[in-house]
Amino acid sequence: MDSIASSSLSSCYHIIFTSLAFILSGLIFLLTRKTKSKALRLPPGPPGWPVVGNLFQVARSGKPFFEYVAELLPKYGPIFTLRMGTRTLIIISNAELVHEALVVKGQVFASRPRENPTRAVYSCDKFTVNSAVYGPVWRSLRRNMVQGMLSSARLREFHNVRSMAMDKLIDKLRAEAQSNNGVVRVLKNARFAVFCILLSMCFGVEMDEKTVEMIDQLMKKVLTVLDPRIDDYLPILSPFFSKQRKIAREVRKEQIETLVPFIEKRRSILKNLESEPNAATFSYLDTLFDLKVEGRKTTPTHPEIVTLCSEFINGGTDTTGTAIEWAIARLIENPEIQQRLFEEIKNTVGERKVDDKDLDKMPYLNAVTKELLRKHPPTYFSLTHAVMEPAKLGGYDIPTDANLDIYLPPISEDPKVWSQPEKFDPDRFMSGREDADITGVSGVKMIPFGVGRRICPGLSMATIHVNLMLARMVQEFEWSWYPADGKIDFSGKTEFTVVMKNPLRAMIKPRV
Ligand code: HEM
Repeated sequence: MDSIASSSLSSCYHIIFTSLAFILSGLIFLLTRKTKSKALRLPPGPPGWPVVGNLFQVARSGKPFFEYVAELLPKYGPIFTLRMGTRTLIIISNAELVHEALVVKGQVFASRPRENPTRAVYSCDKFTVNSAVYGPVWRSLRRNMVQGMLSSARLREFHNVRSMAMDKLIDKLRAEAQSNNGVVRVLKNARFAVFCILLSMCFGVEMDEKTVEMIDQLMKKVLTVLDPRIDDYLPILSPFFSKQRKIAREVRKEQIETLVPFIEKRRSILKNLESEPNAATFSYLDTLFDLKVEGRKTTPTHPEIVTLCSEFINGGTDTTGTAIEWAIARLIENPEIQQRLFEEIKNTVGERKVDDKDLDKMPYLNAVTKELLRKHPPTYFSLTHAVMEPAKLGGYDIPTDANLDIYLPPISEDPKVWSQPEKFDPDRFMSGREDADITGVSGVKMIPFGVGRRICPGLSMATIHVNLMLARMVQEFEWSWYPADGKIDFSGKTEFTVVMKNPLRAMIKPRV
């Protein structure tokens, strides 16, 4: 989710721009030398070039950003600085620093950095929960999302939507296996199932599968144009990227033109709910039409509603789909865990299908999900934070225009906190041997959803989705590795979230 982590910068950029950047950097360095020499004590970091900083080192490494960061940890420790052109990134990766920043000094560290021009267009100038600066707009939007859609009472109301999406997922897996010698793609199917749930919760109008797929493609296109480009770090190069800016504007236009008709449809349905027996009784859109935002006189415009809906859908789709892909890989790797989970399901629900209300009654399922989120946080970086005012962290200065990025894996794999952290072992949470509060309130040990004021508001819903999907998938099928004699490669790559480098394909055998 982190802007940098979500993409690896195209390696060809630096060849084109290195020489140009050198000349410019020399010039700008001379011009800005005086202001730069202000006595800030930033965390240490690898030496970079004037102006471009470490930008080309990162790009030239050819590695995903998370790997580049992981390799710097032994040398620079849990807090270090990377200078990426005009952006200063401060990367932290241990529990103490996260606790200091997001809990002890939570209010100061609760903001978000300035956005690049493309993101600013798509977020309607930071009119989303995730991008808003810490203040009244963020408070209004977040309160609306949480109270309007994500409270436990609201979540219960969408029980049927989940149940239908799960049935569809199982049917799809069965059909794919039948036409493909028992082999299915895990991420694609899991992602699509959760996308259907979120789409339905968001728009509350009936959509056929073709429409859902069309919107899915559109959302993917949006995520692609939001991938950071080199001119986001060196705006001076932006004249070279007019084609990309044009494409971004066109995709935004397409996004608005595609989604506004559904907004209008819902608006008209609301005028007469009885006329549409298949329409949902409630949707996220319903909370947005008359939304009052602190400090604003008007209700959200169409582009703003499109933006907020896209945030709701995108926030939970790839993250949840990714979690399921890693989970199934771990269950295949550990057939005894899969078997124990299946037995728990069978003993809890008997012959009927697993339902929302069964989830709390299955401690082993919950332990598997927790262990999964410890070992494979779907995003390796939290969303980028920024400070409201100049601050200190770990004794270093954090200026207001710096990006604070939290690298999550070292926290949940810290050998000082976890026994055999490299091992996938749900039992650690069953035996009372170890525990962790996933919200971070009673201590930062694993924070796949972040911690503090900006903690993921979708935490409860996401946990339900992961638990339910896993339970249904294991209840219906026995999962095994494809090809049968192959070996699972547990390395990851960044695709907005950190997915398996080789997309997981698995053999499934119906249990009955
Ligand atoms: C397994 C699934 C998910 C994971 C791992 C996840 C993870 C995260 C993380 C790490 C953050 C950043 C927290 C921070 O800034 O410190 C975040 C923020 C956010 N997430 Fe999630 N998320 C998931 C599902 C969802 C869902 C289902 C929604 C949907 C509605 C959602 C909506 C958001 C929003 C709106 C924010 C921004 C919060 C703010 O800035 O106040 N996420 N999530």
